[in-house]
Amino acid sequence: MTAEKHSGFSSSFGVIMAAAGSAVGLGNIWRFPYICGKYGGGAFLLVYVFFVFSIGMVLMMSEFIIGRRSRHSPLKAYPALSDGHRRWMTVGMAGVLTCFLILSVYLIISGWTLSYFVDSITGKLSSLDDGSFASYFDTFAASPSRPTLALLVFLLLTMLVVIGGVKKGIEQVSKILMPILVLEILILCVRSLTLNGASAGLHYLFHPDFSLLGWEGVLAALGQALFSLSVGMGAMVVYGSYIPHDENLLKTSLWITACDFLIAVLAGIAIFPAVFACGHDPACGPGLVYQVLPAVFNSMGGLGSVFSAMFFLLLTLAALTSAISLLETLTATAVDYGYTRTRSTIIITIVEAILAVTACLTFNGGIWSSAQLGGRTLYNWLDLLTGAYLPPICALLTAIFFGWVMKKEDIRDELSNHGTLRIRYFNVFYYFLVRFVAPTALLFVLISGIIG
Ligand code: TRP
Repeated sequence: MTAEKHSGFSSSFGVIMAAAGSAVGLGNIWRFPYICGKYGGGAFLLVYVFFVFSIGMVLMMSEFIIGRRSRHSPLKAYPALSDGHRRWMTVGMAGVLTCFLILSVYLIISGWTLSYFVDSITGKLSSLDDGSFASYFDTFAASPSRPTLALLVFLLLTMLVVIGGVKKGIEQVSKILMPILVLEILILCVRSLTLNGASAGLHYLFHPDFSLLGWEGVLAALGQALFSLSVGMGAMVVYGSYIPHDENLLKTSLWITACDFLIAVLAGIAIFPAVFACGHDPACGPGLVYQVLPAVFNSMGGLGSVFSAMFFLLLTLAALTSAISLLETLTATAVDYGYTRTRSTIIITIVEAILAVTACLTFNGGIWSSAQLGGRTLYNWLDLLTGAYLPPICALLTAIFFGWVMKKEDIRDELSNHGTLRIRYFNVFYYFLVRFVAPTALLFVLISGIIG
């Protein structure tokens, strides 16, 4: 353990803001609303709530326990808690690799978001007419210069915060950005809800249509819960290793989970009523934010460009705190092996930049989009692996480790802060969930994903 590892978060608020910053990201604001709409609104929401507060939260708590107990990054934490069995290092490796790959896709989408923020401020978006947003996005995303430049700027910002360290970089920045984010999303919700015809959007979001849910929707809800809470990938092990000994881990996890869930719902409330009120199609999937929302903002008249700038800033900030956590997971691993923070962060950033830029140029219509393997471009492969397969695989491994390898007494000790907190229903709730329910559900997701 290096001296740097001892400097963790300094307050409960800091812990919650940093970890909520990791969780709240593109997954909440860009992905959740369209998936929720696709699988039957309220019906999806019900299943989602269940997964988030059961399996998702329990996994988050497990990762915090692994991190805090071992005071190590994932690669060393798993062997340290299994009497030095090096084979469990694989669980940590899978997580760190997943974070590395997620970050590359994340940077591409964050770059688009940053560019759209700039386009909102400069008035470029508001000068386009309604019918041209789809083609504007396609041309923009396929161009070799702007998206790559934007992703590099975004990565540079992320790098600077991580170099700043745990307390002065990550915790400080999260404590400032997260409240701004909440304020912004509330303003956007109010604007959206006060438009004429907003109620159709609320109906779309909350009315439970079980015919649209199906098995696929249930599985999508579990996948989304894992992705949105950033669990199973070692990121929360790293943040867990920075949590002070006297924090109540159950309470902390509950706060973060509630925050993440609420912001996803608020994003839906900010988006759908406005989409309906302005007569646009809500079911256009991933392109909703870049191809439909700019038209919605345009039809709001004078203040539309202010709301547009506000929305894309919101999305950029949410993405930034998550990207910080992804990069920190990689940096913490290097630091745990004795490398300095600055040096490791810079080297990892360079490698990540090469992967992200290459993948960005293979995006639909991009200059390298004809370079394909098995019918898929590099971007498509990364998207498939990080969106569908790797998170549940890593989460399954974590649940197995936690429920079947780690000592039960260590878990109880960590959860109760060495016996100073009373924990109720430990066996019934917590241990049963993590030992049996979580692995079964995750195995199901995986198998059905592979078959599907
Ligand atoms: N939770 C993030 C979001 O909702 C995405 C994410 C997945 C993530 N795994 C992570 C972020 C690990 C940080 C670390 O967008």
